[in-house]
Amino acid sequence: MSREGQPFIYLDHAATSWPKPPEVTEAVVQATLHDAANPGRGSHAMAVRASRILFETRKQLAKLFHIKNPNDIAFASNTTMALNMAIKGWLKPGDHVIATAVEHNSVRRPLYYLEQTIGIEVSYIESDLTGKLKVEDVESAIRPHTTLIIMNHSSNLLGTIMPVADVGELARKNGIKLLVDAAQSAGILPIDVEAMGIDMLAFPGHKGLLGPQGTGGLYISPNMEIEPLLHGGTGSQSEALHQPHVRPDRYEAGTQNTPGLAGLQMGVRHVLKETAASIHAKEWALSQRLLEGLSSLNPVQLLGPGIGEERTGIVAFNVAGIDPSELSFILDQHYNIAVRAGFHCTPMAHMAAGTSATGAIRASVGIYTTTAEVEALLHAIKEITEQYGI
Ligand code: ALA
Repeated sequence: MSREGQPFIYLDHAATSWPKPPEVTEAVVQATLHDAANPGRGSHAMAVRASRILFETRKQLAKLFHIKNPNDIAFASNTTMALNMAIKGWLKPGDHVIATAVEHNSVRRPLYYLEQTIGIEVSYIESDLTGKLKVEDVESAIRPHTTLIIMNHSSNLLGTIMPVADVGELARKNGIKLLVDAAQSAGILPIDVEAMGIDMLAFPGHKGLLGPQGTGGLYISPNMEIEPLLHGGTGSQSEALHQPHVRPDRYEAGTQNTPGLAGLQMGVRHVLKETAASIHAKEWALSQRLLEGLSSLNPVQLLGPGIGEERTGIVAFNVAGIDPSELSFILDQHYNIAVRAGFHCTPMAHMAAGTSATGAIRASVGIYTTTAEVEALLHAIKEITEQYGI
């Protein structure tokens, strides 16, 4: 077992996609070299070019998510920031929130913070051990003062795809807003905010949308207003003390990441060209090969939906007798294979899957992942288990 001469295999796309399409990197460089004046501040030619980059990125995102008005998208540094904008901007003292058992800490922690500070109530809907939940359980949890349902579109540990459209219909019927965490689905699963009844969509730029880190955003339906998370300069209504009401300025205080958003625009264009549906189909096929190969190895415990079921390209597992961190270390050091190990910022999903004590190894595929890379991981796991005599 030696890392020497082994090709680098990146299977950590759920954390951040890599590599990016060449046009993404090129756009970051070109914007930095030629267009990185301050967007929305000043009327000189370079500032106007920077503003145009932001507007075009918004337009491409709106096309991808079927959003009518691009100005209903506010940029954020990452999904965590977008979720904080949505949660802290919407909830008021005394509100009741329904969330699911596979939420990430970027939902759970802001909710806990609001429980402790302003006094909200939260109900978490339990799932089965593969992360699936029943829409009836969401319905039963609704109370007279429920104002928000928060739902992960796909679990970052289990790969389970959640019934967003069904919950959207339920939320609409009951006059409750629906916030969707698209950290693992934007650019990977088709998303239509209108058809799926999504009122707020928090998404990363650096995962399935193939953009640089430090990019992402929040869609806020025109039918609702939220309080801004940040207050400050917007380049508009400078004389006013209050945050402007016009979108997107209301939610975008401070200088935006023009080079990063130029890159994101190219990432979104790439997704639009390939289509989320075909990206999902390709990643699903790779996940099936991973599941089949792993299931043929005795000491492997697979998490999430089984073979043949719907899921994203996330495959988490454990090998009996080997600590996940140790296994990930061996994969990295001896096989040049990058996976994520340990706890994946989602304690309730670990609880549902029964891995609260152990954590798990997570392999996640992306648009450039090949079958040969998946086979290389399977071969490595087989070799390691043989070396361990398990
Ligand atoms: N939330 C990201 C992940 O699951 C970082 O790895």
